[in-house]
Amino acid sequence: SDPGLVERAAAAKAALGDRVFVLGHHYQRDEVIQFADVTGDSFKLAREAAARPDAEFIVFCGVHFMAESADILTSETQRVVLPDLAAGCSMADMAVLEQVEQCWDLLSDLGIADSVVPVTYMNSSADIKGFVGRNGGVVCTSSNAKRALDWAYAQGEKVLFLPDQHLGRNTAVLEMGYSLDDCVLYDPHKPNGGLTDQQLRDAKMILWRGHCSVHGRFTLENVLAMREQVPGVNILVHPECRHEVVTEADYVGSTEYIIKKLEAAEPGSAWAVGTELNLVRRLAAAHPDKQVMFLEKTVCYCSTMNRIDLPHLVWALEELVAGRVPNQITVDPDTAHHARVALDQMLALP
Ligand code: 13P
Ligand code: SF4
Repeated sequence: SDPGLVERAAAAKAALGDRVFVLGHHYQRDEVIQFADVTGDSFKLAREAAARPDAEFIVFCGVHFMAESADILTSETQRVVLPDLAAGCSMADMAVLEQVEQCWDLLSDLGIADSVVPVTYMNSSADIKGFVGRNGGVVCTSSNAKRALDWAYAQGEKVLFLPDQHLGRNTAVLEMGYSLDDCVLYDPHKPNGGLTDQQLRDAKMILWRGHCSVHGRFTLENVLAMREQVPGVNILVHPECRHEVVTEADYVGSTEYIIKKLEAAEPGSAWAVGTELNLVRRLAAAHPDKQVMFLEKTVCYCSTMNRIDLPHLVWALEELVAGRVPNQITVDPDTAHHARVALDQMLALP
């Protein structure tokens, strides 16, 4: 990266000292990650944000929903900054509050809303987390989805899982023993979600029709081709991948899990990894004694994660040095209160 920008970022960070804390998600660019005080998956970063009450500014190198969660979990005086406001998440955008309320009204009309516990993936807007908190549910991440669902099924008979159909289906079927027939897919763009009343009544798991535009692109064919090309290869994928990909893989887990799995792997072993490219590249560089490959060459970066680049980070830090707070992310107090209930419920999971 541009040496001038590297120097400017370092100088601005030094000038701010302990007043600033920089969080970096694992999918961020190397040029940004080098300035992160801590790196992590979305669960670890939410906890790290909550654990820094002394930092006046949290600069979140990640996407919008993560910065919102950080604002909810930090104190009123702390300010959360997202270096580029265009860093959203296509999956989070697939569940809009009005659509979810419409779905809930439908479940109420059918007389089953009382038996449904809403669970939302961290990758959702604060509005959706607020809805879930208001209705007795919980937030989950890819590292605690099973624990969150165990909790939810202890509260009610059914789950409405938002917004990632794949994480919901993979966890219910592969980790909790539900069948594919226990799951139905609710499409917010179709009348009645594209389902019959009976299907909604019978379902144990109502999956929202959302997916990750990066992980959703890995296919079963990619896995089979990799096994043919590299005999003995270990296939390691994120649970946001499609069900048939996850079923055929050897190991499945969050980004933190993927990192730990490769750290523990035998020297000389071969790994094909199905997750975001910035992370896979860093892992390949970190483990020259192992063969770390990308599961599919045409799947690329998360374009919105990649919006955060060194120029945006330098700009944000220099603004803070100048006494201005750029791109502050704030959640309105009522939404924040209810979202916090659902996030605290997650943080309290056993
Ligand atoms: P985790 O960080 O929870 O593994 O989620 C991956 C992701 O897609 C983040 O946007
Ligand atoms: Fe959203 Fe997928 Fe990008 Fe994560 S990787 S921010 S889920 S689009």
